[in-house]
Amino acid sequence: MAVVDGVVSLKHLVTMETLSNEEVMGLIKRGIAFKNSSANFASDRQYFAANLFFESSTRTHKSFEVAEKKLGLDVIEFDAKTSSVNKGETLYDTILTMSALGVDICVVRHSQEDYYKQLIDSRTIQTAIVNGGDGSGQHPSQCLLDLMTIYEEFGHFDNLRVAIAGDITHSRVAKSNMQILKRLGAELYFAGPREWYSEDFDVYGKYVTIDEIVDEVDVLMLLRVQHERHDGVGGFSKESYHTLHGLNQERYDHLKSSAIIMHPAPVNRDVEIADQLVEAPKSRIVAQMQNGVFVRMAIIEAILNGKV
Ligand code: CP
Repeated sequence: MAVVDGVVSLKHLVTMETLSNEEVMGLIKRGIAFKNSSANFASDRQYFAANLFFESSTRTHKSFEVAEKKLGLDVIEFDAKTSSVNKGETLYDTILTMSALGVDICVVRHSQEDYYKQLIDSRTIQTAIVNGGDGSGQHPSQCLLDLMTIYEEFGHFDNLRVAIAGDITHSRVAKSNMQILKRLGAELYFAGPREWYSEDFDVYGKYVTIDEIVDEVDVLMLLRVQHERHDGVGGFSKESYHTLHGLNQERYDHLKSSAIIMHPAPVNRDVEIADQLVEAPKSRIVAQMQNGVFVRMAIIEAILNGKV
């Protein structure tokens, strides 16, 4: 991994921790350049990408596909439900096969945390791995699109007050974001149910209630309640969650005029955020989805830079 004259080269992208601040800023700025049409990518070589999603996805899967097609890559169809995964093929063997077929980049989403370690340590697998989300582990491309959205708004990260609110323990988005935002100089706060918070996060920021912080934050980053990762023990009430921890109109009205709201989506409307606020003036939820295409173009380009 390297940055030479502002050009980022990556072998894989599996966590945010392995990226330097220079690489992070290089990818954000390249994403903005793709968005502004001031960057383009051309190659004489044919490149193949495969998007291997073993967990459901709308945004990550389809925005990687759009990004790959905008860059001129050939995208290999893959559906876990009709692949040899059904005959017992392991993730390792699926990726080994993609590598043998000459696929240059595999974007992988899988429920197993750290699934990528065995793949990037393999001496046989030549394909680059881009982590599209591993269980409750990491979601680096979501993190980079979030950073791009914040950077577009404020032009820096230094001393920005960012509150991450909701189901933090189960959120790979929260984990990727807290690590890198702290490193980039942001001041972090965490809010949401105590049972979905861990003292492990104390090194990154301060645990508060949403009402203690809502009028002070520059960025309010809401998280989806991840029912699929809960054990089902204990009752969950949407109304109670929304009242205690969600963004309702009253809390929205307390935000600073310059503050923005973010959410990685999919949104549980009227749970994490009131239905009418999803597209409110301070919401950047649609911008996040748009930026996902451009920052993923920057990621794919950096991986291809690492291959030449
Ligand atoms: N934000 C996000 O990862 O959305 P998807 O699950 O739809 O990809």
